[in-house]
Amino acid sequence: MSRSAAAAALGKDLVGLEGLTREQILGILDTAEPFKEVSERRIKKVPVLRGKTIVNLFFEPSTRTRISFEFAEKRLSADTVNIGAVGSSVSKGETLVDTARNLEAMRIDMVVMRHWSPGAARFLASRIPSNVINAGDGAHEHPTQGLLDILTLRDHFGRLEGLKVCIVGDVLHSRVARSNIYGLVTLGAEVAVCGPRTLLPAGIEELDVRVFARVEEAIEWAEALNVLRLQLERMEGGFVPSLREYNRVFGITRERLEWAPREMLILHPGPMNRGVEIDSDVADGPHSVILRQVTNGVAVRMAVLYLLTGGAPDRAESAKSGGEGRS
Ligand code: CP
Repeated sequence: MSRSAAAAALGKDLVGLEGLTREQILGILDTAEPFKEVSERRIKKVPVLRGKTIVNLFFEPSTRTRISFEFAEKRLSADTVNIGAVGSSVSKGETLVDTARNLEAMRIDMVVMRHWSPGAARFLASRIPSNVINAGDGAHEHPTQGLLDILTLRDHFGRLEGLKVCIVGDVLHSRVARSNIYGLVTLGAEVAVCGPRTLLPAGIEELDVRVFARVEEAIEWAEALNVLRLQLERMEGGFVPSLREYNRVFGITRERLEWAPREMLILHPGPMNRGVEIDSDVADGPHSVILRQVTNGVAVRMAVLYLLTGGAPDRAESAKSGGEGRS
């Protein structure tokens, strides 16, 4: 199957990177490439999703993902509506399915959803005919974040096969870690995790990752570090002795990186706890691609929106020019 056909066969929804094939993931990354240019134009708008109606349903806080999806949708000319738990009838006890059915009754085409419950996106996708994109479901997956991280790595290194990437920090509570692991392993990268044992899920080795107990070992091994936020809001205490202690033992600091045998690329999905998992001189330093990740997020989301509504990767260039692009 060609990459184009594979990506076109993404199906109705994107709920995770687990189970996607190499061709499907590369198909999304390749489709994001021509869409990068749209955000650099003076008039950032192409007619690809004209007439489509998309609901952004965010039950958890978000800055990057929600705004990035909204920009992606608007730059593709879709009509968008944003709904949060506060201010909607969810706060009066309406169920997720009832909310979605009412939206369906208004003839929407797609739902982008962030939800606190792992599996919520798959549950919704199985119950409504509209396309569903998972914008993060509890500690399960955050597929578009995984894709934009992988695109940023590919942009920098020009390869993914054999690339050594270590995910550092609170892996236990991280949907970003899972999506990165599924995507990177499928694409042939070597993946490791590093963090306190209390913040590494039991059986993580079964996902084909190596585990480093000490961050110094991870720095010696890796070509790129994806540094995760300590998700304090998902912890009830007892996972780390203190934030100061965490920074002392696992924090990514300039002093630690000076021991790296090679230049180390630094990623972080955001939001950052500066001075906890990452120091400011690393986050803002010359090897950080944290803001490039955010820029790539818009192109990746444009690609996913385009593909799920029937676009073909090899026609993205023509589609964004307003040509005969969509299948
Ligand atoms: N990376 C990420 O998901 O950030 P937000 O929570 O701000 O969307």
